[in-house]
Amino acid sequence: MQLNRFMSVYEIVQYPDKRLSMPGERVEEVTPEIRRIVENMFETHYAAPNCAALAATQLGVPLCITVIDFSEQKNQPLCLINPEVISGEGETFTAEGCMSVAKVHERVKRFERVTVRAMDLDGKVREYVEEGFMAKCMQHEIDHLNGILFIDRLSALKRKIINLRFRRG
Ligand code: NI
Repeated sequence: MQLNRFMSVYEIVQYPDKRLSMPGERVEEVTPEIRRIVENMFETHYAAPNCAALAATQLGVPLCITVIDFSEQKNQPLCLINPEVISGEGETFTAEGCMSVAKVHERVKRFERVTVRAMDLDGKVREYVEEGFMAKCMQHEIDHLNGILFIDRLSALKRKIINLRFRRG
């Protein structure tokens, strides 16, 4: 991605910041302002080491937008606006982490395959049929946009242990 002087990097909000549990608002239209936000989101994504995806709600921007790119070369950007899982099948149980929840990796139950409906940057509503890491990534990001973190999907005991750790700092 070409850098330009209008781009800027957002701060990634860290758990237990309350903003992470607030759902994003739907985007009605892809305006120049929305495009600028998306550019900044990708800029933030590519500046963060080991980042697969970011949701706007993690960046202090309460909108239903996520940017995804886990390619080796960081050259396969995907932006989903107002994404929702419309169907899912199969089940996986694999480790996840999150840029907003430092140093926690826990296994989470997800659909193995999903159909996701979302608007793209041209304002077109599309359906994505995905499996594997992309399916997991989309489900994690859509959770973010609904104010849900992956640790919210763990057992009460695991959450308690994690919370103790964050309270100690
Ligand atoms: Ni995350």
